[in-house]
Amino acid sequence: MTNKLIYFVGNWKMFGDFSSYKIINRINKFSVKTKKRLNKKIIFCIPSTLIHFFNKKINSKYISLGAQNCHQQEGYGAFTGSLSASMLKKAGSKYIILGHSENRLEGETDTIIKKKIISALKQKLNIIYCIGETLKEKKSKKTFKVLKKQIRKVLEKKFDDSKIILAYEPVWSIGTNKILNSKDLKNTINFIKKELNIVFKNKKNLKILYGGSVNEKNITLFSKIHEIDGFLIGGASQSSKKFIDIIKNYYK
Ligand code: PGA
Repeated sequence: MTNKLIYFVGNWKMFGDFSSYKIINRINKFSVKTKKRLNKKIIFCIPSTLIHFFNKKINSKYISLGAQNCHQQEGYGAFTGSLSASMLKKAGSKYIILGHSENRLEGETDTIIKKKIISALKQKLNIIYCIGETLKEKKSKKTFKVLKKQIRKVLEKKFDDSKIILAYEPVWSIGTNKILNSKDLKNTINFIKKELNIVFKNKKNLKILYGGSVNEKNITLFSKIHEIDGFLIGGASQSSKKFIDIIKNYYK
């Protein structure tokens, strides 16, 4: 069993209401019970409407809450329907997912994502920055080119690298039950590490998560890939049983 700190990050997407804190409460109990044995960090990125309420209800040292996106504008502004990083911070977010492919698909560009990262870093939020290739890009062997662009156009040496976690999520793997083979995944993670070392000049702090159809069954395959520092989990994070089984099976 590894002694390395492993991240298990739930991405609830558009899911949950006030009663859903019970899901996280059950995971919290498991987390407390296993705190000495399993070196893990659990984060839940939930809808912004729930952050303040969940923080009050759960109030746990063992689970951190995060948001799933923000507007690039700092503070307040005339942006109907949007939330800034400072508003999310005040609501109790410690983390924020940025650059998720579901938002990129709606028109979010690398330039916009970079602005979002800058405004979230000013609020001292921890960023979970998502990158990943589409199926078309994979088929035309452009994966590394795409990842390189997503890293180099968005990240900069002057960014506080202790506040940035990278999540590699192949777009074709999200919600599809399709996953990469171990060899390709290792190669891709090593490529990302190399790119990050170029951007951050060999500061080796950055964690790299894998995301895309992670479940309680395939986690045993991923647990053998020591290059991975953790997981961004969508669908399976909406069930306490599945999420807990993912953690249990990782350490088996
Ligand atoms: P999935 O989603 O686990 O449901 O594939 C992952 C994500 O979109 O972050």
